[in-house]
Amino acid sequence: MSFQHLLAIETSCDETAAAIVDQTDDADRPWAVRSSVVASQVAIHREWGGVVPELASRQHVRDICGVVERALADADLSWSAIDAMAVTQGPGLVGSLLVGVSFAKAAAWSLGRPLVAVHHLAGHIESIWLDHGRIPLPAVVLVVSGGHTNLYLIRREGEYVLLGRTRDDAAGEAYDKVAKLLGLGYPGGPIVDRLAADGNARAIRWPGTRLTNPDRNHPERDGRFDFSFSGLKTAVLRHVRARQAALGQDRLPAAEVRDIAASFQRRVVETLVERTFAAARWYGARAVGVAGGVSANAHLRSEMTARGAAVELPVFIPRLSLSTDNAAMIAAAGLRQLARGRLAPPDLNADASLAL
Ligand code: KG4
Ligand code: ZN
Repeated sequence: MSFQHLLAIETSCDETAAAIVDQTDDADRPWAVRSSVVASQVAIHREWGGVVPELASRQHVRDICGVVERALADADLSWSAIDAMAVTQGPGLVGSLLVGVSFAKAAAWSLGRPLVAVHHLAGHIESIWLDHGRIPLPAVVLVVSGGHTNLYLIRREGEYVLLGRTRDDAAGEAYDKVAKLLGLGYPGGPIVDRLAADGNARAIRWPGTRLTNPDRNHPERDGRFDFSFSGLKTAVLRHVRARQAALGQDRLPAAEVRDIAASFQRRVVETLVERTFAAARWYGARAVGVAGGVSANAHLRSEMTARGAAVELPVFIPRLSLSTDNAAMIAAAGLRQLARGRLAPPDLNADASLAL
């Protein structure tokens, strides 16, 4: 194999990550994670209730060298053993992206090795192949993260056709906002996930939002596979404000908070599962994939798997460490591109709103 060890760097948001992924000789499992290091900035941003872009870029600058050196040490490799590099070019916070892009360009240039530029969402999608090897095609893949809720059709490996996306908030963003208004802290997704497990998911009936149109010839052009979460977020806000007013205090009883979290989560997961499987049916998919930070959600994982079992479609979700932001997935997407000879130009720049 010409490219055996690929070093990837990911700095699109608030995680500084580096990983080394090997190209194998096994066509069904072409990639093997050799090391994967993630330095989280959660403790820094928690104080502000969300990611502060300027603080994020500064912390990336502080962490990047140590994170890359740790990835090399964990892989038991020296710099000279690296055959190629990959880096997240976008989308994300431009200051954060620039740290990774500048580092990768300088390192690749000084090593005399090829560099590939990776789209962050291609990384999330490829995390499924990285963890499970080849999956049956065509596949419908849902990418749910803090910034995106996108549904893709994959007919051929490495080719991503957008079928639908959120019209307003991303699912992860809705989790984070609902957690904030319930006074639960940041990031909200994992906290709501944990609390919801002990709540009554049928305690509250939210008003319905339906985006589904009747069957048409081009459902993706009609937005039939689009999502919307801002209505639900507003419904939760109204409910919480009304309850606070009724109780005459900001703090709601813990049991009630758990019920709100569970009822909110039930609606989000229901929507994600319905739309994903509707698209899978429409396109005759032979597999369903779920990736991105929200795919770490316990209820989403179990509902997707259960629905897949019910309709006899295999469901592929990466393990937790590959669900949330990491560089191993960027390495996988990088190896995919490298195999096609798509190298980054020497004047590669970060692109905060890069299209896939
Ligand atoms: O993919 P990711 O790590 O970063 C982005 O590319 O955005 O996703 C982060 C998002 C955050 O909104 C976070 O709250 C959400 O994923 N998240 C979860 C869970 N773990 C992370 N949402 C629900 N349940 C979880 N267990
Ligand atoms: Zn992500």
